Amino acid sequence: MSIVSIIRRKERNRAAIDFTLDYHAHILPGCDHGSDSLETSQKQIAMAKAAGIKTICATPHFYPNRDTTHSFLLRRQLSYEKLSPYLVKSDPQILLGAEVLICDAIENMDELYSLCLEGTNELLIEMPFYKWPSSIWATIYHLNDREDIRPVIAHAERYPAENIELLIREGISLQLNVDCLLKPFKRKRYFSWIENGYVAYLGSDIHTTGANYQDWIKCKNAVNAFCSR
Ligand SMILES: [Fe+2]
Repeated sequence: MSIVSIIRRKERNRAAIDFTLDYHAHILPGCDHGSDSLETSQKQIAMAKAAGIKTICATPHFYPNRDTTHSFLLRRQLSYEKLSPYLVKSDPQILLGAEVLICDAIENMDELYSLCLEGTNELLIEMPFYKWPSSIWATIYHLNDREDIRPVIAHAERYPAENIELLIREGISLQLNVDCLLKPFKRKRYFSWIENGYVAYLGSDIHTTGANYQDWIKCKNAVNAFCSR
């Protein structure tokens, strides 16, 4: 199933989460600090496959203060070409994207659209981990006003909930890292975001060979139990 048809299906069922899709992962060898080698990437993909994932969105970090879109896209392509000969038919499909760190006025950056997830107009945005200044608020709202780009907030659970709820009011979609759904005190809020259709995607955000995929099935069961209660 293509990412486009997954998105269309989600539009029909706003609260549905597709657990065969990992929307946020750092699995391209040498492209960023997510995988230091082909072997690491192969282990990551094997773990994803074991967790029932059919599609992985490879989203290396894009830092606008360190990279140009041209150099990033070239590095990502070379990294993917290193990996692709070793992929077999039963492996998850890999789609190329980016995790773009927001900076002031990024909505005006040349070729920003080229950082959207392959086959979509969705741009995975990493917000800052310090108090968001007014310029960052302006930037995310301007980005949301662009007709050709749909921002998706990466690991939305990491930011102050009051900030995220302001973005929700603007219709901005969220991506959650799957492990947040196992956190006993905070997960009720995340479940309600899912139930209300604010969470478009879940991601592993895997770096190296961490435990991200081990909890994938536990999270699937927890979300299904919550949404069907
Ligand atoms: Fe990430």
